[in-house]
Amino acid sequence: MGNNHIITLALFFIFVNVLVTGQQNKIDGVIITPSDFQALQAFKRELIDARGVLRSWNGTRNAACSGSWAGIKCIKGHVVAIQLPFKALAGRISDKVGQFKELRKFSLHDNLITGTIPSSLGSLPNLRGLYLFNNRLSGSIPPSIGNSPQLQAIDLSNNLLNGFIPPKIISSPRIYRLNLSFNSLSGSIPSSFSESSSVAFVALQFNNLTGSIPSSWENKSGYQLRSLTLDHNSISGTIPKSLGKLGNLEELSLSHNKINGTIPNELSSLEKLRVLDLSDNVIYGTVPKELGGLKNVSAINLKKNKLRGHIPPTIGNLSTINALDLSENNFTGEIPVSFENLSKLTSFNVSNNDLSGQVPARLSKRFNSSSFSGNLQLCGFSASTPCFAQAPISESPSSSPNPSKRRRLSTKDIILIIVGALLAVLFVLCCVLLCCLIRKRTGSKASNGKNIGHGGEKGVVLAGEASEGGPTGGKLVLFDGPFVFTADDLLCATAEIMGKSPYGTVYKATLEDGNQVAVKRLREKLAKAPKEFEIEVGALGRIRHPNLLPLRAYYLGPKGEKLLVFDYLTKGSLSSFLHARGPEITIDWPTRMKIALGVTRGLNHLHNQENLVHGNLASSDVYLDEQNKPKVSDYGIHRLMTDTANTNVSATAGATGYRAPELPKTKKSSTKTDIYSLGVILLELLTGKSPSETIEGSDLPQWVASTVKEEWTNEVFDLELMRDVSTTGDEMLNTLKLALHLVDPSPEARPDIQQVLQQLEEINPKLAAETAEDSAEKGHH
Ligand SMILES: *[C@@H]1O[C@H](CO)[C@@H](O)[C@H](O)[C@H]1NC(C)=O
Ligand SMILES: *[C@@H]1O[C@H](CO)[C@@H](O)[C@H](O)[C@H]1NC(C)=O
Ligand SMILES: *[C@@H]1O[C@H](CO)[C@@H](O)[C@H](O)[C@H]1NC(C)=O
Ligand SMILES: *[C@@H]1O[C@H](CO)[C@@H](O)[C@H](O)[C@H]1NC(C)=O
Ligand SMILES: *[C@@H]1O[C@H](CO)[C@@H](O)[C@H](O)[C@H]1NC(C)=O
Repeated sequence: MGNNHIITLALFFIFVNVLVTGQQNKIDGVIITPSDFQALQAFKRELIDARGVLRSWNGTRNAACSGSWAGIKCIKGHVVAIQLPFKALAGRISDKVGQFKELRKFSLHDNLITGTIPSSLGSLPNLRGLYLFNNRLSGSIPPSIGNSPQLQAIDLSNNLLNGFIPPKIISSPRIYRLNLSFNSLSGSIPSSFSESSSVAFVALQFNNLTGSIPSSWENKSGYQLRSLTLDHNSISGTIPKSLGKLGNLEELSLSHNKINGTIPNELSSLEKLRVLDLSDNVIYGTVPKELGGLKNVSAINLKKNKLRGHIPPTIGNLSTINALDLSENNFTGEIPVSFENLSKLTSFNVSNNDLSGQVPARLSKRFNSSSFSGNLQLCGFSASTPCFAQAPISESPSSSPNPSKRRRLSTKDIILIIVGALLAVLFVLCCVLLCCLIRKRTGSKASNGKNIGHGGEKGVVLAGEASEGGPTGGKLVLFDGPFVFTADDLLCATAEIMGKSPYGTVYKATLEDGNQVAVKRLREKLAKAPKEFEIEVGALGRIRHPNLLPLRAYYLGPKGEKLLVFDYLTKGSLSSFLHARGPEITIDWPTRMKIALGVTRGLNHLHNQENLVHGNLASSDVYLDEQNKPKVSDYGIHRLMTDTANTNVSATAGATGYRAPELPKTKKSSTKTDIYSLGVILLELLTGKSPSETIEGSDLPQWVASTVKEEWTNEVFDLELMRDVSTTGDEMLNTLKLALHLVDPSPEARPDIQQVLQQLEEINPKLAAETAEDSAEKGHH
């Protein structure tokens, strides 16, 4: 059952070939060569086929390439692919496989195959993918493996392989992924590993490797290496400085080894690094303050080493980090106050060190004592570890600081502190109120600044102007929705910038009653004149659909300021959901599929019920509610803008990566450009890659199309989706096919939204029905 997707994969390849080259592939009509036929028979003979999968390998030479033999694909009488994963095959792999001179893909993963890997596999000049993982293969890896100049992927993980890693295994100039993890390999990592500039994934974890990490990384032609996982071995030596040359590295995992020496400063030049795991080694020295420069890091684990000295305050600059473990070292001094800035931190541990002083208040609120315990002189992280006022440090060398010698706060002190704090709060409140009142009174005299800084550095007042006439001089129109507020409430709300787009800036605004709304301030110069604006915005304000973010109100200021008010969703955008999450958070396929269905339904409503083109669809315009139900926003904003603004915007800005290729020429968005953008979002969900970045010089649709054409369909999917590929592989493939259709360079070839929705619903009818129910319930209000 779990193998359906592999078969579909072969069919899919044919489909894509037709799509790409426009001609039918000749899969049959050619009789297999005697040599390939003989090799197939020998291959079958040495396997034990308990489920009878290979019973279809019957009949004469005519049959072998006719398409009826399970798992066999031919071109011109040569076997090009053998794909038999999840077939409960046992027995051994025949040495005769060396006769398949045209073989490109050899995939027998997830079987029960024993014996050794035949060295003849190393003599296949066209081999591109070798997938033998999850079997019981033993012996050592033949030194010839890796010789094939076309090899892109080798996965021998989770077998019983022993012996050394042959240096040539990584010698193909096209090698992209090498996985030898979960075996019993010994010896050291060959220095050839630092010579491959093409490899992106190297996984050697859970072996018995010794020796040190290759140290000869030189930036000759730009390494593609993105992930190096060497954890759970017995690697010793130091962390080579030259690892800092791996400018594309996103993950470096060296934990559970015997690595010593210090952490090199050079690691801080790994700008793309997201995960740094050095835990459980014997690394000593101090943590270099330069690590505070890791701009994209989301997890650092230094647990269980011999690190000492102060924790550098620069670590508090790592604004993207969400997991930090420094426990079981010998750190001294205080936890830097700068750690209070780490707003994304969800996991934090400094336990079992020699830290002292007071835990910064915001940390002690967010993390319980298990994050701090085992530091005798650390205080303030739980009720049983109160901090005492600083007593003069005893001069006597022998006496350790002793809490009982210090003074407790007296009741008087406490009262004074509380009164002081209350006064401070009152003072701030008065200032805010005054500020609001003054602004109302002085009105247009105030200034012509649009965003007057107010309060904290992030606080911004939405509109700083009001005329002497009415209470505000502007006009607020509310559409149907849960909250009621006045123009004044809106203008006095403090706001934080959430994002900027070519049409304006979006703020998160907190109203006086505590309700939060998202406010979009349109660029005045680009928007239509008030009369036309009101007609268009009135139409947008009536649109209601469970997958569309509703427009709740608009405000037209006396000087032409235009604010649009939407619901605020705390979960944020699909873009940040996919690309700004911690390494421990995975997003499974059903969740992604539901999002795809929701976005498609929202767009379907726009195109078919409202007759409206979205015009700017991108994953940053799709917001998620608590149940991850998507709500498309920003639809029809182009209708509020002047025509000149629109042609400039679609030609120059728009959403990079989502823009249909014809847009620079036509300068006009259409339902077909929306479909293209939707296709990009589907690819984004499938690959986990952000369309705003180019991959190997191509945009996301080009990259996916070329990878698929090369038969590396599995390489395009987000790695974390590959875990469940046996159950969801079919759905992913079908969605991929559909998505490639949507991003067809020719607008006429793209389906319309109703067809897209219908096909998506057919891919997983159960999910479609579930999500359709939610849509219907809320649709009728
Ligand atoms: C060969 O296998 C196919 C598929 O399993 C089966 O339909 C066919 O009857 C078999 N032919 C012979 C001659 O056994
Ligand atoms: C390597 O193989 C292991 C075990 O099969 C798997 O868990 C891991 O995700 C693979 N990593 C890569 C980069 O292929
Ligand atoms: C470091 O800490 C360990 C326990 O965490 C302790 O046994 C060891 O003596 C300490 N070493 C130094 C140099 O302080
Ligand atoms: C402390 O927090 C951790 C993780 O945040 C949690 O697993 C643990 O149960 C908590 N312990 C206590 C005593 O609350
Ligand atoms: C912190 O690390 C210690 C080991 O040093 C562990 O026992 C504790 O559970 C960890 N706490 C959290 C919250 O991770």
